[in-house]
Amino acid sequence: MKGSSGKLSRADKQAQNYVASIPFDRRLYRQDIEGSIAHARMLAKQGIIAKSEAETIIKRLTSIRKEIERGKFQFKTELEDIHMNIEARLFEKIGDVAGKLHTARSRNDQIALDLRLLVKEEISKTIDKIKALQASLVELAKANKDVIMPGYTHLQQAQPILLAHHLLAYFDMFQRDKERFHDCLGRTDVLPLGSGALAGVPYPIDREFVARQLGFSKVSTNSLDAVSDRDFVIEYEAAAAIAMMHLSRLAEELILWSSSEFGFIEIGEAFTTGSSIMPQKKNPDVAELARGKTGRVYGHLMGILTTMKSLPLAYNRDMQEDKEGLFDTVDTLHTSLEVFAGMVKTIKVNTERIAQAMKTDYILATDLADYLVNKGLPFRKAHGVVAKLSEYAMSKGKNFHELGRKEYRKFSPLFGGDVYKITLESSVAARNVAGGTSPQQVGKALKRAKRLIKG
Ligand code: ARG
Repeated sequence: MKGSSGKLSRADKQAQNYVASIPFDRRLYRQDIEGSIAHARMLAKQGIIAKSEAETIIKRLTSIRKEIERGKFQFKTELEDIHMNIEARLFEKIGDVAGKLHTARSRNDQIALDLRLLVKEEISKTIDKIKALQASLVELAKANKDVIMPGYTHLQQAQPILLAHHLLAYFDMFQRDKERFHDCLGRTDVLPLGSGALAGVPYPIDREFVARQLGFSKVSTNSLDAVSDRDFVIEYEAAAAIAMMHLSRLAEELILWSSSEFGFIEIGEAFTTGSSIMPQKKNPDVAELARGKTGRVYGHLMGILTTMKSLPLAYNRDMQEDKEGLFDTVDTLHTSLEVFAGMVKTIKVNTERIAQAMKTDYILATDLADYLVNKGLPFRKAHGVVAKLSEYAMSKGKNFHELGRKEYRKFSPLFGGDVYKITLESSVAARNVAGGTSPQQVGKALKRAKRLIKG
């Protein structure tokens, strides 16, 4: 690299393509122009360039933006990146005055600015998309408020729960995701412009003014750090990786529940595909792809972490590798959230199949133990009694409610007639603690969820 233009000194076509970022950083055109306009305004306000020069620059930058948006702009690989492409076009339009725009600025603080502007915008979109998915989950939970389903641990039936409670577990996960993106926003919201190449700039610039123009609430406090910090990219990708992990867990359950073995739900046809040779099939491709794309988002996080590892201060060209992974992360997360919000709305719950799954009522074993505890038996003992009782019932091919009084008594004299009052409904209702699955608690949780979506 040579000279202020940053162009390769002797063009080798392959090397030129190798260093060029324009195929992907053109996505930053709007942020780049917005940043340049604020910078030009500040330069004029500080008397570093003439007001008329700033006006010419701003006017032309605005028309370049329109050219790009109309598809009329010719991006050139030999001009490397979005910054040089726009500046070169500005020169074509207004000649030497264009050269004044880059006063008190370097591409190093410029790219840091563009990326921060982009991440800030994307975070608010991400949060909105998570909210939309949360709203779909709440809707599905509300529509099936009274449905009791088996709760699982180790994918073995454990205790009955409300389907709404299960769905709201995902609501809480996505709530944390929103908080993580919000935290990331706070650290992204720092203006790096004014750091120059690495050391600051020898002009009387007004960084606070630029920050206000661009909507930043803080300015960076160390020029070296400001041009070489990509923590905000890593944080976005880390938060995205976690959100995708949550989506993949939801995806997995939807895939499982819509299998013919479970049959708990049916996913709307718009979100499933048929098989070309097996006419009975409805494949949950959308859910499967979200599960698959999670791997790709994890990959981007590992990629940027590795790119940044051991980089000496300050800017290094390695950092140009931050963009493709970030853009793909944003796009993958956003489309995944959008299709899920749509898909969840189409889910039909098959209450008969769910009830069928709990026909053998061994899922009430814990409640039998709790019953004995209420009659005074220590929990560990009660657990042992019910373990033997279950073994017995299973060996006889009977459910708990099919066992006679005498059969119960064989295992503990504490069993009375009221043992038959233990049902799926009583089991769920009994768990009336904060965060528990009782209808009362889930009712509260639904209200809270609705509040959080609005807020
Ligand atoms: N295209 C570069 C990037 O994305 C912009 C900064 C280049 N700075 C430099 N001095 N070469 O990182």
